Amino acid sequence: MCGIVGYVGFRKSPELLIEGLRRLEYRGYDSAGIAVQNGNGGEINIRKKAGRVDELANLVQNDPVDGTIGIGHTRWATHGETTDVNSHPHIGGNGEVVIVHNGVIENYASLRTKLQEQGFVFHTTTDTEVVAHLIAHHLAEQIKLGGDPASVDTCIAAIEISLKRLKGTYGIVALFRDVPDLVVAARLGSPLVIGVGDREHYVASDASPLVGYVDEVVYLSDHELATLTADEIHLKHLETGQLSPSIQTLDQVSNDVELGDYEHYMLKEIYEQPQTIENAMRGRLNADEATAVFGGLNLDAPQLRRIDRVVLTACGTSWHAGLVGEYMLEEFARLPTEVEYASELRYRNPPLSDRTMIFAITQSGETADTLAAMRECKRKGLPTLAICNVVGSTIAREADGGIYLHAGSEIGVASTKAFTSQVTVLAQLALFMGRMRHLSYPAGSRIIEHLKAMPEKAEQTLKCDELVHDIAKKYHGFDNFLYMGRLYNFPVALEGALKLKEISYIHAEGYPAAEMKHGPIALVDEQTPSVFIVPRGSIYPKVMSNLEEVKARKGPIIAIACEGDEKIADIADDVIYVPDVEEYLQPIVTSIPLQLLSYHIACMRGCNVDRPRNLAKSVTVE
Ligand code: F6R
Repeated sequence: MCGIVGYVGFRKSPELLIEGLRRLEYRGYDSAGIAVQNGNGGEINIRKKAGRVDELANLVQNDPVDGTIGIGHTRWATHGETTDVNSHPHIGGNGEVVIVHNGVIENYASLRTKLQEQGFVFHTTTDTEVVAHLIAHHLAEQIKLGGDPASVDTCIAAIEISLKRLKGTYGIVALFRDVPDLVVAARLGSPLVIGVGDREHYVASDASPLVGYVDEVVYLSDHELATLTADEIHLKHLETGQLSPSIQTLDQVSNDVELGDYEHYMLKEIYEQPQTIENAMRGRLNADEATAVFGGLNLDAPQLRRIDRVVLTACGTSWHAGLVGEYMLEEFARLPTEVEYASELRYRNPPLSDRTMIFAITQSGETADTLAAMRECKRKGLPTLAICNVVGSTIAREADGGIYLHAGSEIGVASTKAFTSQVTVLAQLALFMGRMRHLSYPAGSRIIEHLKAMPEKAEQTLKCDELVHDIAKKYHGFDNFLYMGRLYNFPVALEGALKLKEISYIHAEGYPAAEMKHGPIALVDEQTPSVFIVPRGSIYPKVMSNLEEVKARKGPIIAIACEGDEKIADIADDVIYVPDVEEYLQPIVTSIPLQLLSYHIACMRGCNVDRPRNLAKSVTVE
């Protein structure tokens, strides 16, 4: 949440910062701002504005700033309304320091009172301005003790003392008026990555603004502080001292962050699924041994064989993928599996034996609750692994091992391709764990054949787009929707409802279809469409009875059914056909029309599909 970018080097920083903020805008988009420093005089000029990065770009065009050093921020408000004045960057003291911040400062109110008593005047209602003034206060203290205001050491001392007084989370990047050619970055809980260039350095909340500019990066860990000049990087661990930077190759490609011919990232990402499903399986299916292979689990066969319980923990869409994984792991590996909301697991104290394996499932690898739940389990000494998309993200780095999705950047706020990749990876995990237990060679071979067919099945599914568009035309004016499915399609019902509500602001509920009679059926009327996910399978007739019950109460019905199912067309008002695949892989094909349905409905309602209100792509605050 919130996007940060910083630069020190030889390029004109305003353009670079604004371009970086555009790439980070998916992280938060309430307001945006930049502070640009001129290496010759040190003057820091700020431009900031409530609203999107485009509005900031217009402001800078009309009122330009010049310099080769700078910091920028795109905000997802936590403290204080979304106003021009609350936008970052924020000034400390009389402009000695300017900062941008991502995270939440929990003790900001008490610090603010103390700083006010010392004469600091606050212009905003943010927690960040408290940090800016606190650094300015300690800078003044250092100078009183004989520190040179123009020395890097004085600035670093001031920032270090200030950080020790903060409770909460932060990714902070600061400029100092009297030390031009210096950018300082520090992290506790909110991600930062440094881009290493030739006579230039970058810092950002994630690697997307660095793509195309640098090939090498350094990921900051918690409690680390980086001092950047055009020519040098110094890293320091705030508790243990100096560190040497561990430089890694940036393997993101620039077309990952380009929109291409698509109108929205969400649509682009929906259409990428045949490819991303393929990528999630590349090099992982071993037909000779009828199993899956994973390079990074970092557990040997005897350790994996000892496991007798799996806990999958995640939030939102990733949690829905976890539910599909639960069914697969129990069916194929006979491993008792639970799916825990990470926000609950982090504070619960469930009994977890040393034979329990934890998987954190996360697209971004930065979700605060998922990270905290993972750390809590790790602290208890459990093998803690991750199923993650973003390479080098905090969860990917802190997990004992894991499996990457290789889905490429997911920019649209609504998660789409990550879900189908997570399901694909979980199916392979179930195959792998199953083959170490009860699953026979022929059964393993069959699963491999089914999996290999999925990219093609996803491609075929996408052909429903035009029909889904027409169905959306018919239903986009309704204000309440129900989504129902059973077994493997119950998580799909939850996911379909989540997709609709988050991007179109329509109220939608997902239920296991049989639960309908225990309450939700009271909602059924002519104004409440029900989306039934009813492909062929073991309990097809049961779901059909639920569908009849809705029909009897005049509820409009949209059905997601298997090709060739003519019976359903007599009952449902609209049918979207998907290819017939094995039950456990149905979530891949049944989720795609639901992604498209919410996409088209949201577009027809004039919603900002890629940047829905109140949301941000990676939820890095609790
Ligand atoms: C929904 C959505 C969110 C995320 C959730 C977890 O479309 O995007 O519900 O799935 O915030 O995010 P990750 O997977 O990054 O941990």
